Amino acid sequence: MDTKANTDTSDHEDAGPAAPGRRSLLGGAAALGLGSAAFGSTTARAAGAPSRSRPEGGRFRGKSVLVTGGTSGIGRATAKAFAREGAHVGFCGRRAELGRQVEREIRDAGGEATYLQADVRVDAEVRGFVDRVASRYGGIDVAFNNAGIGGGRLPHEMSVEEWDDVQATNARGVFLAVKYEVPHMLRAQGGVIICTSSSAAEQARPNGAAYTASKRAVQGLVKSAALAYGPRGIRINALLPGTTDTAFVRPPGIPDADWARYKQAWGPLNVDGLERMADAEEIARAVLGLASDDFPYMTGASVAVDGGSGAGRKMLQPGTA
Ligand SMILES: NC(=O)c1ccc[n+]([C@@H]2O[C@H](COP(=O)([O-])OP(=O)(O)OC[C@H]3O[C@@H](n4cnc5c(N)ncnc54)[C@H](OP(=O)(O)O)[C@@H]3O)[C@@H](O)[C@H]2O)c1
Repeated sequence: MDTKANTDTSDHEDAGPAAPGRRSLLGGAAALGLGSAAFGSTTARAAGAPSRSRPEGGRFRGKSVLVTGGTSGIGRATAKAFAREGAHVGFCGRRAELGRQVEREIRDAGGEATYLQADVRVDAEVRGFVDRVASRYGGIDVAFNNAGIGGGRLPHEMSVEEWDDVQATNARGVFLAVKYEVPHMLRAQGGVIICTSSSAAEQARPNGAAYTASKRAVQGLVKSAALAYGPRGIRINALLPGTTDTAFVRPPGIPDADWARYKQAWGPLNVDGLERMADAEEIARAVLGLASDDFPYMTGASVAVDGGSGAGRKMLQPGTA
């Protein structure tokens, strides 16, 4: 299986940090370069009460929360945010070392988390991951189906394998997660699912056919599932982040100071509303909000958290300048 991931994305086009033009997005991101790892917990402990004291209080105290793609970026920030709010968090990703590090960071901060290595493209791994989280933490109250990769190429230049990999990760991976999460939620007569789509689902880019198609598929799945499972107490929504400062968009190896300068120039040129990129933590806060009891009537929605970039573009009325 081709495991090349995020070397280009349709959330960003291919201008380098030296040239932050309008609509020029960021070229290259971390090459993940990992194989379809055999499923297996590297750190899971025997079922039982978590060993460390958890933060007092919190909106998700004692809740079981599942996150796909929690080894970096938005998923990592969200796993940590749920744990800070008292949740028991089971998360996956392919990079075991990073997974173990995130798990350690959460536990060192007094939270409870378990990393399980799983590739969302692989049916048996997703099923195993979901079932192990449910058995360790007593069901699944909240699921954040977030794992994803980019895939920025013109259709005639994209290989069939690249197209398939984007769909297998971003669309089929979300389907598999929902498929195996829902039975747990049906048994519990309720649950909340949030699936990461993208602002690119609604704003296409010239080289974004595969990515936009995959993120539109997530929206479609969410709408249908909302109808299917609403009567059974399960809410499901799609989250559409705008460009967010993660390895997904940050060119590998760029020094912090250069990246900060680039972002400062990039923001006003590309995000007409708030004129800046999001931080992963800001997206995480939106996920927690959607998962909380503050939105009991929201399901089937596509929620843009994009700094206003989806609202339109600033332009002068012809003849006014
Ligand atoms: N950053 C943005 O500008 C932006 C904007 C809109 C939407 N998004 C979406 O947000 C989500 C998270 O992206 P991010 O920005 O946080 O980028 P990131 O830092 O690259 O994180 C991507 C996460 O997905 C995981 N992943 C990728 N392929 C996987 C697979 N086959 N199996 C299991 N896990 C896999 C990665 O883990 P491993 O590599 O360890 O497997 C990683 O944890 C993606 O769905 C992306 O499309 C991002």
